[in-house]
Amino acid sequence: MLITEILYTITQIRQKIKSFKEKKLVIGLVPTMGALHIGHESLIKRAKQECDIVIVSIFVNPIQFCLGEDFEKYPRQIEADRQICSKLGVDIIFAPNADEMYPDEATRIDENFTIVAPPASYQNKLCGNFRKGHFNGVATVVLKLFNIITPDKAYFGRKDAQQLVIIKKMIKDIDLPLEIVDCPIIREPEGLACSSRNKYLSAESRNKALCIFKSLKNIEKLYNTGITSASEAIELSKKLIDPDLEIEYFEAFDFETLKRAEKIQKNTLFAIAVKINGVRLIDNLII
Ligand code: PAF
Repeated sequence: MLITEILYTITQIRQKIKSFKEKKLVIGLVPTMGALHIGHESLIKRAKQECDIVIVSIFVNPIQFCLGEDFEKYPRQIEADRQICSKLGVDIIFAPNADEMYPDEATRIDENFTIVAPPASYQNKLCGNFRKGHFNGVATVVLKLFNIITPDKAYFGRKDAQQLVIIKKMIKDIDLPLEIVDCPIIREPEGLACSSRNKYLSAESRNKALCIFKSLKNIEKLYNTGITSASEAIELSKKLIDPDLEIEYFEAFDFETLKRAEKIQKNTLFAIAVKINGVRLIDNLII
C-alpha cells in the first residue's frame, strides 16, 4: 500500500497540480475538515472512480466556526486520516495550517480580508440562522481551495444540504469551471447520519439520536400515503423526536433554491437540526 503524501503549503500543491495539468489528468477534490469517516470514504471512492488524481484537503477552517462553537475541540487526527486515504488510494492530502490559508491573523476576526458572502436568501435560514457567518466562512474557504487546487470535480455530501446548495449557487453565479458532484448521505448501520461530531456522543445520546432518521423516514411514509402538506408531515413526524432532543429547526425547502416548500414534491428538502447534551446534529431527507 502506498502511503499518501501530505503537502502543507500552497506553493507545494500548486507545483504538483501544474504537472498533473500538463499531463491532462482529471483532478478530483474532496474538501474535508478531517476526522474522516465512512461518509468521507464514500466521497473519496466516488472521486477515485471518476478522476485520475484524487486530492483530499484537510483543514479545520477557523472562519466557519462561530464564537462558542467546537473549533478548539474539533477532532484532529491527521495520521489516522492518512491511513484511510492511503487505503483508498488518495494521491495527495493537502493539509495547510491556518497561517498558510490566512497569513494575516486579522482575517480570523474578519476584518482585513475578502469574504465570500452567499446570498442572504440562501444563508439566512436553517443552519445559517443558528450559525451566523458560518456560510461566509465555508464559501470563502471552499473558493480558496478551488483556486489553489483548480479541480475538475469536487465532491460534497448531501448531509450538509444547505452547504451543498450554497456551493452550487456560488459556482453558477461566479462561473467557476468545475463540476460539483453531490453524493448521498451515508448512515451508520442503525441509521444515524455519519458525522465527525458523532464522536462527541455518549452511548445513550447516540441511541436517542436514532429517532432523527426515524422521523425523516416517517415523512417519506406520510408522503407515500398521500399527505402533500409539508407542515403537516413535519408536525406529525416531530412527535417521533425524543423529548431529550432540542429541535433547532425541522423545516421544508426546495433543494435548489432554498425557498420554503409548502407542498411536498420532487426535490423538497426536509432538514432537521437538534441538540443533544450540547452536541449539534443535522440530517435531512430529499424527496
Ligand atoms: O463540510 C465540511 O467539512 C466543510 O464545511 C468544508 C466544505 C470542508 C469547508 O471547510
